[in-house]
This record gives sequence, C-alpha cells and structure tokens, in this order.
Amino acid sequence: MILLDGAKVAHERNLMLKEMIEKDILKYKRAPSLSIILVGDNPASQSYVKGKGKACDLVGITHKLYNLKEDIKESELSTLIEELNHDDNVDGILLQLPISKHLNESKLIDLISKDKDADGFHVVNQGYLYQKKPTICPATPKGIMTLLKSYDINVSGMDAVVIGRSNIVGFPIARLLMDAGATITVCHRQTKDLAFHTRTADLLIVSAGRAELVTQDMVKPGAIVVDVGVNRVDGKLVGDVFFQGVSQVASYLSPVPKGVGPMTINALMENTYELYLKHVQN
Ligand code: GUN
Repeated sequence: MILLDGAKVAHERNLMLKEMIEKDILKYKRAPSLSIILVGDNPASQSYVKGKGKACDLVGITHKLYNLKEDIKESELSTLIEELNHDDNVDGILLQLPISKHLNESKLIDLISKDKDADGFHVVNQGYLYQKKPTICPATPKGIMTLLKSYDINVSGMDAVVIGRSNIVGFPIARLLMDAGATITVCHRQTKDLAFHTRTADLLIVSAGRAELVTQDMVKPGAIVVDVGVNRVDGKLVGDVFFQGVSQVASYLSPVPKGVGPMTINALMENTYELYLKHVQN
C-alpha cells in the first residue's frame, strides 16, 4: 500500500507558492490577504482556523481573524462581510463552517463577494463549477484532485464511489471526478447497501463524517481510498476509514491526520493567491 502523503505534497506546494508570492509582492507592492471569520468557539473549527493561519504565515499571505460571539446578530455579521467585500486590501474572505444555527448560512455565504470567495462556496462559483467553467474550486475537492495527480493517478475510466453529498466535499468532488473521466456513484445516508457500492470502487472517496465507517471487507483489493473524515475518538483523531484494516487491501490510502487536511489548506492558499492575482491585475 502506498500512503497518499498529503502533508508532504502540501508542504512542497506551499513552498513553491511562497516563492511565487515573494516575487509578486515585489511586483504588486503588497502581499495577498485573507480574512477569516470564525463564529463561536467550536474546538474543531478553532483548530482548522489555526492551521489556516499557520499556512498563511508560511506562504506569505497576510491574514486577519474575526472571532465573533456565538450569539452574534445576523445583521452584524452581514455588515462585517459587506465591509470586507468593499475593503480593497482584502483578496479573500472565508466564513468557517459550521456557524450558529440562528444564522442563515447559505445567505451569508452568498453575501461574500464571488470575487473574494476563497472557499468557492458562493452559489455563482458553484454554478460555474457545475457548468465546467473556470472558477474558484472548493478547497477539499481541489486538494483531493491535486493529491491524486501528484501520485500520477489518472482517474479516467475508473469506477469512483463517493460517500457523502455535501456542498463542501461530496457533491463537488463527484463533479470533478466525472469531468476527469471517472464513472461516479454517490452514496449517502439513504443508500440501501453501502458495501455493495463501495466494493465496486476503483477509487473510493469517503466523506461521511462517521468514524471508521469503511472497513476492509467493504473495499475491493487494489482500490485507491481517500479518507476525508476527521473524527475525535477517545482524544485521538481518526478518519472515516478503518486505517489498519483497509491498508491491508488498498493500493493507495490517505491517512488521517496528514492526508486530505493539509491538501485542503494548501488549496485554500492557492485559491487566495488566485483571487489576489485577479484583484491586483485588474
Ligand atoms: N468547515 C469544514 N470544512 C470547511 C471548509 O473547507 N471551509 C470552511 N469555511 N469551513 C469548513
């Protein structure tokens, strides 16, 4: 089994990005900048946001964190987003999800300017993605595609099974894999017989949000398995794939941590850089 070492690939890409940003700072007289909005004190979100800030520091993206109270009024959050939309020194805006239940998540995401949408979650950017037009691509699916490419994995003609249908991972990765020539099955909570589908997969992408859901018996020998899950069990991070078992049968497998997570953050850095270039070149 070959480990899909996201931490290594992401670090190499971040170093390349750092070099490009250094040159562009001289050319455009300012660094790219990312504004991160975190609502409340969810420990997982705090940890993700910290990782994003650290990556910004490494590659040379200036970043500012807006840590807002859990019970912030929607109107206050809207005002902040509008201000950032109009701030000429801001290239990218990210609203860390999930946000408090009383806030209208989809409305707030769509309030972020589509030209500053570092996550690629804006309805217009997702529309471009689904119509196969150039756009900012959601970070996790983009990171997964980059990880597969880094290992020279060509998905064309593969039978790919995606577990999960979220707007953040499942749905967009299905689209990207289809565009890359794979045949796609998307499984979810209502799927009658999950193992029946997963056993057909040449490529299995697991984004179910359930610790160690996928076991060895559910994986075809030689399959490529990408684990998007991050679950805390007894103080330890585990994925949605039972690593020890599945590593016995898979040809490639991404670990948790140090698999998809760092690739997501690298893709976010690349997205912010892309938004910056469009912004300064206009
Ligand atoms: N929550 C879980 N994944 C993500 C992500 O990629 N971006 C944001 N903003 N929130 C998330």
